Amino acid sequence: MKINSISLRKILDSRARYTVEAEINEYSGKAPSGASTGTHEAKCFVPEDLEGIEEELKQLEGKVIDQKEFDNLLRDIDGTDDFSRIGAIGIACSLAFKQASGFEHGKEFPLPLSNVIGGGEHGGNTSIQEFLVLPVEASTFPEAIEINRKIYQELKEKHKRKIKGMNDEGALITGMNDEQTLRALKEIADKHGARIGLDVAASEFFEDGKYKMTSLGMEQKPDDHYKFIQKLIDVFDLVYVEDPFDQEDFRLHAKLSSKNPDVMVCGDDLFTTNKDRLQEGIENGACNSLIIKPNQIGTVSDTLETVELAEENDYTPVISHRSGETCDSSISDLSLEWNCPVIKAGIADIRIAKLNRLLTLWDEQESPEVYRK
Ligand code: PGA
Ligand code: ZN
Repeated sequence: MKINSISLRKILDSRARYTVEAEINEYSGKAPSGASTGTHEAKCFVPEDLEGIEEELKQLEGKVIDQKEFDNLLRDIDGTDDFSRIGAIGIACSLAFKQASGFEHGKEFPLPLSNVIGGGEHGGNTSIQEFLVLPVEASTFPEAIEINRKIYQELKEKHKRKIKGMNDEGALITGMNDEQTLRALKEIADKHGARIGLDVAASEFFEDGKYKMTSLGMEQKPDDHYKFIQKLIDVFDLVYVEDPFDQEDFRLHAKLSSKNPDVMVCGDDLFTTNKDRLQEGIENGACNSLIIKPNQIGTVSDTLETVELAEENDYTPVISHRSGETCDSSISDLSLEWNCPVIKAGIADIRIAKLNRLLTLWDEQESPEVYRK
């Protein structure tokens, strides 16, 4: 693709903080940001000298290059391993380039995994960060959205006296603790044939060798925390468990995956969309699924390499938003291009940009694939 023009600007994100929008040939890419970030992630901040870096990028105008070459040039301009110099500009430009060069949409739509009640770093009463629903009985993408929407609305109605608001991801903040939340959610999810998932985001409460779940008044050593997670899987018939243990603990992730082959044991902070970290996981047997967040690794082509390594090794890629978001819906298009079977993108507030993009794409497809049961 020929780069005719590149420009940058500061825009607001869903937390009323600044992030970066890049425009390439008038196509936009916007950088999201995390709150519960993994230590191995690429850096994603707004650099002070946006104009100076924009001048450097303008030297690429006139070049005819592909995505991989463009992403390599972004890394050269940055000059560090983890985008420590140009921060959020890297992923904003990489997404804008992808938008400008177009997507190749496959026919298989992802199942939406929706955060309906939240806590942890995103705000809420629970130590577990996300209580998620997966509409496993749905036949079509619109039906899947309808199931998750109903669960969210019914939770809101049934527990209205306990609801205090919405957190960073548009999930409900309630007065319930983790176990009460799971019981309340199970009742409603069962009614709609949906299964429950958790993003434990355990690194956020792992301190001095112990898992400190203050919402439950619990402080446990790793092996006891393992038993607690196994109990939650068994009692609540969990279909999905993300980051149940600390981001350096490949061993416990491997043990949980081998004991629960039918559960999606998913690494987010553990892998940070980094193919070397994923390779280490594959060698250790840790997890059977991973979160795919393009800004964790910094470019679209590096993200694709991680998706390919996952697929070659039967790890299910779950493409995901961040807690700090914009109305950029690139991950929706990428989910179809990369055949990701699951998208984690919330259900309310600015998250609808991703879901509505998929609803539009569903309508535009001549014969979209229904879900395999
Ligand atoms: P983050 O949270 O975007 O704040 O990292 C999302 C997640 O942990 O999945
Ligand atoms: Zn996570």
